[in-house]
Amino acid sequence: MAVNICGTGSFIPSHVMDNNGIAELVDTNDEWIRERTGIVRRHIVDGETTVSMACEAGERALSMAGISAEEIDLIVVSTISSNVVLPCAACEVQKELGAVNATCFDLSAACTGFVLAYNTAAAYLSGGIYKTALIIGSESLSNLTNWRDRGTCILFGDGAGAAVLRADSRRMYVPVTHSDGGKGSALSLKSRHDRNVLTAGEYSGENHDYGTDEYFMKMDGKAVFQFAVKKVPQAVREVLEKNQVRQDEIDWFLLHQANKRIVESVAKRLGEPMEKFPMNIQEYGNTSSASIPILLDEMNRKGMLKPGQKIVMAGFGAGLTWGASIVEWM
Ligand code: UT7
Repeated sequence: MAVNICGTGSFIPSHVMDNNGIAELVDTNDEWIRERTGIVRRHIVDGETTVSMACEAGERALSMAGISAEEIDLIVVSTISSNVVLPCAACEVQKELGAVNATCFDLSAACTGFVLAYNTAAAYLSGGIYKTALIIGSESLSNLTNWRDRGTCILFGDGAGAAVLRADSRRMYVPVTHSDGGKGSALSLKSRHDRNVLTAGEYSGENHDYGTDEYFMKMDGKAVFQFAVKKVPQAVREVLEKNQVRQDEIDWFLLHQANKRIVESVAKRLGEPMEKFPMNIQEYGNTSSASIPILLDEMNRKGMLKPGQKIVMAGFGAGLTWGASIVEWM
């Protein structure tokens, strides 16, 4: 797509919970979690909200881009865990940043959300409708986590990542996206609240009373794992073919950080070395739609991204949804 990422930002809550902390809540241990997922610790909101993290990440991205809030035409926030239902998180971000000229809306596509936010903004920008967009993935998944379920509570963490996009006259890359609502029960959540029982000190083990199961994510981990390792390599090949880009032209594969073994399996199926698949899951766990922009921002700030490099971003998760997009770095 004819867009340029000209700034990135992220925000990570300072409260850390390591695997031993999880082992105090459920029957698990550090070794199992590290081996089966690659996760060592995760950061959990302690006073921060999905909106406040989105604002911090967004501000940092704007500051790097050297763009004022008034210049933003579009704000898209991808989230499944906003602390507000109405108004949308993107409008709350607009208010905090003073982005008075922006059109704002949220996007709900779980762990594929940031890739879809990128595609959505890129379509508006390359269609000539807007010139500048701020896209954000922000999640407080710890609010939606059942801390009695070892099949899910080991995985998730909180944080936000953002990118500023500008319309650009270079080559346009067409994205690949798919959905399979028929398999939605593999990862579901009926309702949500924004109370965090852990950091609010309300958790009291087996006997706690902090709502019914409808407030917590339910997951068939094996089904999601199998779906991801099959569909992500297919989507990557499809997006390369569609854009007539050779696989060896890709410098980085930025996958949604769900499980280290998923990333390793995708790399193996594509026949690519792990060096091209950066990971930060060890530090943050699975932050859903925030995982790709947090990783992108870390790489950007470390100077790992060079002008002319091609990146494939690939997301997958609840819906089921999945997709891949090619980004050319400037
Ligand atoms: O963002 C997208 C959404 N989510 C995902 O991408 C998640 C995808 N799935 C996964 O990452 C993995 O399926 C999990 C990490 C959730 C689970 O790993 P797994 O290798 O699929 O474990 P499993 O459910 O097959 O369980 C293997 C064994 C079982 O014991 P037995 O029956 O072999 O004796 C489980 O009871 O490990 C046991 N187990 C655990 N042991 C210690 C399951 N969870 C745990 C645990 N700690 N937390």
